[in-house]
Amino acid sequence: MSDAALIDPFSRPISYLRVSVTDRCDFRCTYCMAEQMTFLPKADLLTLEELDRLCSAFVRMGVQKLRVTGGEPLVRKGIVTFFEAMSRHLSSGALKELTLTTNGSQLARFAPELAALGIRRVNVSLDTLDPARFAAITRWGRLPQVLDGIAAAQAAGLRVKINAVALKGFNEDELFPLTDWCAREGHDLTWIEVMPMGDIEPSRLEQYWNLRDLRRSYEGRFTLTDLAERSGGPARYVRIEETGQKVGFITPLTHNFCESCNRVRLTCTGELYLCLGQEDRADLRAPLRASPDDGLLDAAIRAAIARKPKGHDFDYSRTAITGQVTRHMSHTGG
Ligand code: GTP
Ligand code: 5AD
Ligand code: SF4
Repeated sequence: MSDAALIDPFSRPISYLRVSVTDRCDFRCTYCMAEQMTFLPKADLLTLEELDRLCSAFVRMGVQKLRVTGGEPLVRKGIVTFFEAMSRHLSSGALKELTLTTNGSQLARFAPELAALGIRRVNVSLDTLDPARFAAITRWGRLPQVLDGIAAAQAAGLRVKINAVALKGFNEDELFPLTDWCAREGHDLTWIEVMPMGDIEPSRLEQYWNLRDLRRSYEGRFTLTDLAERSGGPARYVRIEETGQKVGFITPLTHNFCESCNRVRLTCTGELYLCLGQEDRADLRAPLRASPDDGLLDAAIRAAIARKPKGHDFDYSRTAITGQVTRHMSHTGG
């Protein structure tokens, strides 16, 4: 067993693990999933104990930030037990942050327990504040449930970051209402460019609202100052001088941030994806199950990191999409 830090071929230290604990979700966001999705058979899932062993191996090799994702992570049975297990790495000081990205639907129920386990911050996906639009984009979601979840998170002392996917013809007119609401409620806000992952209707090209244009719209009303601070993910932040609030931009299309990539993604079946925008992956389930000792697993993790690609190839230019990957976002949790 070796605890040496994980460094990829481009000298990038891997310090951030995103772990998708389920590919299932109680919503069906149109840009993320088809309405009729085929999910992985439950028998293929790693147990929570196996996920613990895998994540703990990464922590031993220098991962300092662990983000639990899905599908919707809070629909996985027994998930609190998993957070509880991971919180021992917070107590030991090995993990600097244990957090999750959620659609918010189950937060009203789970927020107090999560806060008690040392989670400080949650990222909640929310693309609109209009109930009818929300129902349309999530297909199965209802806005009041998510707003209640966000309120519960805040009441439990969790900091909330709202993730909004920028969608042309859908939430362009909510740029300021969403921003003002976040300022009033005290939430951070991050806009995300829609990425070509999985086949969906309508076309991504019709949906794509680039964040350069979005930023220009902000500048029509506000003064923006670029900030040097980072949250460990790909977002770049600005401060709106008039309100003091912080807004993030995640721009895989208009500004590639891969050169500073520090993360890999583990799925609920033990596949390790080396890049969100590439198909290459490594199976960690077989080495995990082959031996109770971590030797084989460590070797498999190191071999995988040694082939982490330079970056994604997503591109919408020339009115055609290139670099699309076939899997849906829910497979790796973004
Ligand atoms: P912070 O800890 O708040 O910085 O969160 P984060 O941005 O790392 O995580 P979050 O789950 O909120 O992700 C927001 C969006 O960023 C999702 O749509 C992700 O798919 C996207 N994202 C995160 N990492 C990458 C990446 O390596 N490449 C690309 N293209 N997108 C990413
Ligand atoms: N492009 C960009 N973001 C997406 N998300 C889901 N699908 C896509 C996509 N195709 C977002 C969700 C959530 C985060 C994990 O990923 O809204 O905030
Ligand atoms: Fe579920 Fe998130 Fe995908 Fe929406 S974007 S269907 S909430 S996994």
